Amino acid sequence: MSKFIGILTAGGDSPGLNAAIRGVGKAALVYHGMHIVGFRDGFRGLMENRTTPLDRGNLAGILTIGGTILGTSRDKPHKMPVGGKMLNMLDTIVANYHGNHLDCLVCLGGGGTLKNALRLKQAGLNVITLPKTIDNDVAGTDTSFGFDTALGIATEAIDRLHSTAHSHHRIIVVEIMGHRAGWLALGAGIAGGADVILIPEIPYDVDSVAAAIRARARGGSPFSIVAMAEGAVSKQDLEAIAAAEITDSKTAKVKDGRKSDNQEADAAELVYADRTLRLAKKLEALTGLEARVTILGHVQRGGAPSAGDRILATRLGTACADLIAEGTYGVMVAARGDGTRSVTIEEVAGKVKTVPLKHSLIASARRVGTNFGD
Ligand code: F6P
Repeated sequence: MSKFIGILTAGGDSPGLNAAIRGVGKAALVYHGMHIVGFRDGFRGLMENRTTPLDRGNLAGILTIGGTILGTSRDKPHKMPVGGKMLNMLDTIVANYHGNHLDCLVCLGGGGTLKNALRLKQAGLNVITLPKTIDNDVAGTDTSFGFDTALGIATEAIDRLHSTAHSHHRIIVVEIMGHRAGWLALGAGIAGGADVILIPEIPYDVDSVAAAIRARARGGSPFSIVAMAEGAVSKQDLEAIAAAEITDSKTAKVKDGRKSDNQEADAAELVYADRTLRLAKKLEALTGLEARVTILGHVQRGGAPSAGDRILATRLGTACADLIAEGTYGVMVAARGDGTRSVTIEEVAGKVKTVPLKHSLIASARRVGTNFGD
């Protein structure tokens, strides 16, 4: 009996999603003779039973296209906004899974998707996930599709910023995505020859950054590129977060008549706001050089996937179809070396792969004189 599989894309979009849909879809349809249906807009489409048939026709020509032909959303099965309320829609999702006669649901996504897939697994559904994120922070896999493309875009941006920083004798602070992991900033910083790389894993000291920039200026290079991960935080700001927590717990524990259960997040939100601009201003004051800020933002997520991401997504996608054919469910298809490996969703859900402090890339960057603000 041929199997029926469903597929959805969830969380932030990322280059390579369509290549993965094609990889799973073509291998499932053509090689294994299965049936496949797409759900629109992530878990919301599954909850609303909004399906789209996937056949040879609409799987063709999507390998090189950015975004996702299925659409995506950050909605969670157990906490979905419905009619102005946050509702647990797991039962509806389970019903729609069975209503579509699925043997397996393939979820393409990052850390959030893994946690959602685990909920579906615990509800008795057969699920498989593929690691997708430009942040490269999914645990248990060497890398995720989307990362290589974003790395290329961020590197090209740094290359371009270099010539203008050089011409105007300026500091340019370039903010690079990555959520709370520094992989993108570290990679692009090294590839683009950034003078300073700031990542969340290494809290920075503004004075150390300024001293490195002043030393460069004294050595005849009165310009600098600072590659700053969006999650990077200064030692000073960390102290401010800690102080806000203490004050909050002493004085403002009750907000709007209820106890705030998220004081750390509230304090962190204040600290993260505008931190790139604040850093640039401080560096101007401490170095006497003009500073500018470039926030790369969603440019890093848009457009065609790199060759590397097309290959990775095809490798993971086709391996996923093979696993379904052999009846292996409840796993993430991880990239390991030149091949793939299945790891249970329990092993990786809820874990974030950050940059280890002893990572060889950090050591290499230090050897070529890069400052990490520590
Ligand atoms: O996880 C991918 C990512 O692009 C992060 O790098 C970034 O912090 C976040 O998503 C942005 O999310 P949104 O799509 O909600 O703007």
